Amino acid sequence: MASQANFPAQAALVERVMRAQDVPCVYAIECLSYPFPWSQGLFDDCLRVGYVCRVFEQDGLVAGYGIMSMGAGEAHILNLCVDAPWRGQGAGRRLLLSLLMRAHLAGQEWAFLEVRPSNLGARALYESIGFTQVGLRRGYYQAPEGREDALVCRLSLTGRLFSGSLE
Ligand SMILES: CC(C)(COP(=O)(O)OP(=O)(O)OC[C@H]1O[C@@H](n2cnc3c(N)ncnc32)[C@H](O)[C@@H]1OP(=O)(O)O)[C@@H](O)C(=O)NCCC(=O)NCCS
Repeated sequence: MASQANFPAQAALVERVMRAQDVPCVYAIECLSYPFPWSQGLFDDCLRVGYVCRVFEQDGLVAGYGIMSMGAGEAHILNLCVDAPWRGQGAGRRLLLSLLMRAHLAGQEWAFLEVRPSNLGARALYESIGFTQVGLRRGYYQAPEGREDALVCRLSLTGRLFSGSLE
């Protein structure tokens, strides 16, 4: 498992709340990371409605971000993204676990997310944390040719021990 000790560069990333000024940089990473990126306005909306919006940064440069909504006992991981140079060092796992801990501490019982079947890296991350597939949304995503299904995955946040501290 990737850990901060194994990847000291990643350990230098500082997590903090996303601010409106971060959105252009977040959007630039989004466009480089997804074939069908969110719009800049969608990030603005997430901040405006008060979703949990977190970034990793180093020396003022955003290196990754995570966005989660919470309500009625359910947390929904809406976006999780690490800028390409920082991938494979444990940052994505660290950011996801931070979001899940926040949901757990806020009393949410379940975490949900959607992922493309073709996104093998993200699926491996989610499965390693304990997410299991509970549904399928047919044709949910845009794809280069037509549409792609979404796997709906769920994780129980009750009785699960989240160790470590929140940054
Ligand atoms: C998915 C993503 C957030 C993972 O972030 P990351 O910092 O690279 O992931 P980590 O280094 O924390 O890796 C955690 C685990 O994910 C899995 N994983 C990550 N990248 C992988 C890859 N390319 N292939 C296979 N498994 C991978 C592994 O299980 C890994 O655990 P390990 O290091 O013990 O083997 C990142 O690749 C990303 O931003 N991708 C583009 C955006 C995206 O697809 N987001 C998810 C949308 S559902």
